[in-house]
Amino acid sequence: MSNPLHFSLLLLLLLLLLLLTPSLSFATDPATSSDVGDELSEIEELQAIDDQEELDNLQNGTPSPSSGASVLSKAQRIVVELNNDNTQKIIDQNGFVLLLGYTPWCPRSAELMPQFAESANLLNDLGSPLLMAKLDAERYPKTASSLGIKGYPTLLLFINGTSQPYTGGFTAEEIVIWARKKTGEPVVRLNSVSEAEAFAKKYSMFVVGLFEDFEGPQYDEYIKAAILDSEIQFVETKSDEAAKSLFPDIKPAKPFVGLVKSEPERYTSFEEPLEMDNILQFLEHNKFPLVTTLTELNSVKVYSSKLKYQVYVFAEPDEFKPLLQSLQEVAKKFKSKIMFIYVDITEENLAKPFLTLLGLEDSQKTVVAAFDSKISTKYLLGSEPTPSKLEDFCSGLLDGTVPMYYKSQTIPDNENASVHVVVGKTFDDLVLSSSKNVFLEVFTPWCIACDAASKQVEKLAKHFKGLKNLIFARIDASVNEHPKLQVTDYPALLFYPAADKSNPIKLPSKSSLKDLGAFIKKNVKAEEHAAKDEL
Ligand SMILES: *[C@@H]1O[C@H](CO)[C@@H](O)[C@H](O)[C@H]1NC(C)=O
Ligand SMILES: *[C@@H]1O[C@H](CO)[C@@H](O)[C@H](O)[C@H]1NC(C)=O
Repeated sequence: MSNPLHFSLLLLLLLLLLLLTPSLSFATDPATSSDVGDELSEIEELQAIDDQEELDNLQNGTPSPSSGASVLSKAQRIVVELNNDNTQKIIDQNGFVLLLGYTPWCPRSAELMPQFAESANLLNDLGSPLLMAKLDAERYPKTASSLGIKGYPTLLLFINGTSQPYTGGFTAEEIVIWARKKTGEPVVRLNSVSEAEAFAKKYSMFVVGLFEDFEGPQYDEYIKAAILDSEIQFVETKSDEAAKSLFPDIKPAKPFVGLVKSEPERYTSFEEPLEMDNILQFLEHNKFPLVTTLTELNSVKVYSSKLKYQVYVFAEPDEFKPLLQSLQEVAKKFKSKIMFIYVDITEENLAKPFLTLLGLEDSQKTVVAAFDSKISTKYLLGSEPTPSKLEDFCSGLLDGTVPMYYKSQTIPDNENASVHVVVGKTFDDLVLSSSKNVFLEVFTPWCIACDAASKQVEKLAKHFKGLKNLIFARIDASVNEHPKLQVTDYPALLFYPAADKSNPIKLPSKSSLKDLGAFIKKNVKAEEHAAKDEL
């Protein structure tokens, strides 16, 4: 998450998630903690090892004197448990340590831990020099903070005692790929068709590199890209047959580079000059499937996509199935420009933050919406998502003809109301185009000071009832938006003079009733001296 915009987007979504799901109380919810308990005991089982003595030696940070290297590789099956005493020793005495800081009550930790344990086993099978270790940061807070672990889960890679942040994905396969890239094994070399076939069975996505020789400037660029990329396994081979078994339509000329994925759009050739930056950009544009299904595990990756627009489909799985194929067809046409994401609408944690941004959290129907990569603008497909409507929507996004979407409640009946209720859809008519002065209160349901402000506005509205060219109004900013209404602190009291609606005057929200009354008297035209009484 190097880009701060993406980071703030993620924070926003997490914040929304916390606001919206009060049932997700991490610390005390008994259901959550017992689930975590189950997961943990599964992991403990995974950690059962044959040779307790070797484990003890490792945990004490003293590899058995007989054969240091073999002790490490044998013990890779397990994830070493760290504590206040052994952590520093283990970090100091091993060239590569991947450390997981977790807390038992954190659901994301619970989700990651089985993947972490599985990746430890896979890496062991591959003979990796990496030691995998975990630290319960709740039990050992001092050690955790001395390592700079603040959130959970946190993964850190220590190379010769110096840590670097983890930037890979969170499935076992992705952890393995990332770990090998950083521990001196950035590519897998395949020498024969049978090796290639065995490899292809294990990986859902990979980069094929066919070279005359494993040397030279182009090969070096390929290796640099393999190391810098954080999630895709790179393969190198000199064998035309092996390469062809991985990538059937391979171009005859060497060197050749291509991306293989497990979906309809399976094979993509790299056509640019063979340089690291080009390869990385090619992967950025092609690594996602035509339609990505959002999960807890890939959300960070999806939110940090660098494509300009993301089109999201929120639907129940049964309703999405018939849509998928046409969506994939559309996705092919807008490749490298628009990313397509499916969210199961019944997965509240994933769907609700977005639906809330759209004011559609209660939607029973399929919702198709688009966001720009910063989620600062949003767009809604207002019709059934037929293939042609989807395609028009996407073309419109790119040429800027789809209007931005603003949320709005339905238009209320304001007859006889002393304070008019304004919604997104009526903001133009009732505030900006109205010939009258408008005193507008902007509130949200969760703002603590808003109630008091509302009461003041009610009182003012009663008091100034006689002023014919003044309207009192209020808008709930949590469910209504308008491009001209840019308020970040609530409550906000805005006075829109009849003569100049483009420059509302912002009143201090802590103003006394008397001050507000005086302000209105002063600013509403002289002919309106109906209000003579003191407040
Ligand atoms: C770690 O230290 C050892 C011994 O000093 C050295 O040989 C090795 O290259 C270092 N590894 C890395 C990745 O820097
Ligand atoms: C508004 O006031 C008028 C006159 O007092 C009354 O007849 C009418 O029913 C009221 N309308 C609503 C919606 O309350």
